[in-house]
Amino acid sequence: MKVGIIGSGGREHAICKFLNISDKIDKIYCFPGNAGTKQIAENIEIDLENFENIKNFTLNNKIDFLIVGPEKPLVDGIVDYLEEHNIKVFGPNKLASQLEGSKIFTKKLCENFNIPTAKFGVFYKIDEAENFLKKCNYPIVIKADGLAAGKGVYISETNSEANLAVKEIFNGKFGQAKQILIEEFLDGEEMSFFIISDGISYKLFGTAQDHKRVFEGDKGKNTGGMGAYSPSRLENQDLNNKIIKKIIEPTLKGLKENDIYYKGFLYAGLMIVNNEPFLIEYNVRMGDPECQTLLPKLKTDLGLLISSCIEGKLIDTNIEWFEDKSLCVVMCSKGYPDKYKNNVELNLFNIELEKNEFLFHAGTKSINNKIYSNGGRVLNVVIKSNKFKTARDKALKILKNINWLNGFYRKDIAYKVIDE
Ligand code: AMP
Ligand code: GLY
Repeated sequence: MKVGIIGSGGREHAICKFLNISDKIDKIYCFPGNAGTKQIAENIEIDLENFENIKNFTLNNKIDFLIVGPEKPLVDGIVDYLEEHNIKVFGPNKLASQLEGSKIFTKKLCENFNIPTAKFGVFYKIDEAENFLKKCNYPIVIKADGLAAGKGVYISETNSEANLAVKEIFNGKFGQAKQILIEEFLDGEEMSFFIISDGISYKLFGTAQDHKRVFEGDKGKNTGGMGAYSPSRLENQDLNNKIIKKIIEPTLKGLKENDIYYKGFLYAGLMIVNNEPFLIEYNVRMGDPECQTLLPKLKTDLGLLISSCIEGKLIDTNIEWFEDKSLCVVMCSKGYPDKYKNNVELNLFNIELEKNEFLFHAGTKSINNKIYSNGGRVLNVVIKSNKFKTARDKALKILKNINWLNGFYRKDIAYKVIDE
């Protein structure tokens, strides 16, 4: 089969790599891909906002199905558009993608179906929000509605910080804002929980713990993710059952009652407080870097799994995992998540990887057989091992050998399971 992957990050390189070893897949296109996907697939330089060009290329090249990596095209309705042209796509449609595209949509679903989440209010005017904030306990969480690329969430310790956040959001820092969300601060530990669905049935797709903050010790600004490990240290059967019964199943039921059938990966960002799960947010895709961390643990053929979802036959497909643990460290451009330089050369020619060691490209591009940085998060080193500590030691050794002077990375990924 021929498959196309939409996106250009580490997540898409990992998907590409595991489809490449699939018995089902003969040819892979990446729209637009990166220097890593270029080594195993055909990269197609195409504007991801131009659905018509993607459709034409897919039909002209007789691609059997597409997989959409990032949220933006999903929220913008790429699945609806392509399906109208009889193209098979793995990913949720526009209505289902509101789970990530609109925090208020998700909060209302939580309210209507008793899904545990932080208490919240929606505010349409600055003064209404400010009046409410006078009476709140701190810290408090203030969120812009809509996509904000991992930003747009403020955890305010004081009333004046909170008022500033409200002003920034209403003044358009994350795009036009008609409303904001103010919610209770949940004090617990985060966990990323994944399922895969074909719109008819669903199956669990693992757990991971992401490190979103830029500096060691989980300090500094939020980023897209500086590293992750899987499984989450919080995972156990009792908690899994609670997450399924209290969060996942009511969500899918709530969507179905509105005639929305969820197809794709679904990522629940949870806060676990005293062994009880609360939904913080949904993402309508795999996490990045969680995807890179999880896929090496998947024993089942990824191509077979996704094509069974495309055919609505997930129920017949058994998903098997390796027992090992997995850990990912992200190499970033210096300055990220603020300003950083692009187009800095990387030398990866001397890097030799052993079995269970993976180097996924994220923000890279290749010109005349040379590799250059092309984004804030540049490389992901992932190691599968029976011990998290061994995995991290090996990942750090590889990063040290890469010795990219424009880069930095956290050396403490998974510290809670390794160092504490
Ligand atoms: P979100 O974009 O909604 O995932 O929020 C970004 C990050 O803010 C989350 O990963 C959490 O670390 C934090 N956060 C969001 N909502 C809350 C909350 N209600 N209580 C505590 N932390 C939160
Ligand atoms: N790693 C967080 C995300 O993919 O949103």
